[in-house]
Amino acid sequence: MAERADGNGRGAAFALDTKVIGHRGAAAYAPENTLAGLREAGRRGCRWVEIDVRLTRDGVPVLMHDPALERTTSGRGELNTHDAASVARLDAGGWFGESFRDEPPPRLEEALDLLGELGLKVNLEVKPTMGSARAKAEAVGRTLRADRRRREVVRVISSFSEEILEGLRELLPEVPRGLLLRRPEGDWPAALRRLRCASVHLWHGALEPEVIATARREGVKVLAFTVNSPERARELFALGVDAVITDVPDRIAEVAVSQ
Ligand code: G3P
Ligand code: MG
Repeated sequence: MAERADGNGRGAAFALDTKVIGHRGAAAYAPENTLAGLREAGRRGCRWVEIDVRLTRDGVPVLMHDPALERTTSGRGELNTHDAASVARLDAGGWFGESFRDEPPPRLEEALDLLGELGLKVNLEVKPTMGSARAKAEAVGRTLRADRRRREVVRVISSFSEEILEGLRELLPEVPRGLLLRRPEGDWPAALRRLRCASVHLWHGALEPEVIATARREGVKVLAFTVNSPERARELFALGVDAVITDVPDRIAEVAVSQ
């Protein structure tokens, strides 16, 4: 019989106590992956956020979605060719709005400390491109191991990279893992089992009823990204999706409560 993700064999239990997760903070309202964005998510009623993590050249985990700095910061080139000290001097808010100018890209530890103060939980996504999977798993593992309060803020670590999830399974077995998929291709149920994942996080357009049924049989939670239409969120909740990741958490919360 298949082991289940409920703490009885398939990895750590996943305490998912929300249906709405703010994407990159609250990406429609404040610059993504910044402390200002996390505060905005809290103000908009979020209890959970999703953030993206990458490493600097000197191996420091920081919040950043793209491998390159240009779109969301005042910097140039790839993030992993810059040390953390110079990344901390970049402006990651001015592109979004004048009132956010000089908001720096935060280190993961700063973000977790703020989330702890705000009482928010996080789905921490570790980005796959640029740099070794092992180095990323080790750096995230070190950051979380160093402080119990920081670790408790992290309810699930997700990644498109099976290698990163494999490293995290070994280094941080007590933190639930989520497999990210744009589409349910290949033998994804086998990957969930192999990596002992507690959840699968799918692009919402690929969420057919049979995909959800398969996930249920595997005993994992189903999260959908990135859902900015309340109508679509309502459909997904009706299909049995456990939570949606959204740039507009306040708008989605309105339909989540009526489910
Ligand atoms: O974690 C869900 C979602 O954030 C994955 O896509 O590109 O927005 O990080 P992306
Ligand atoms: Mg993400």
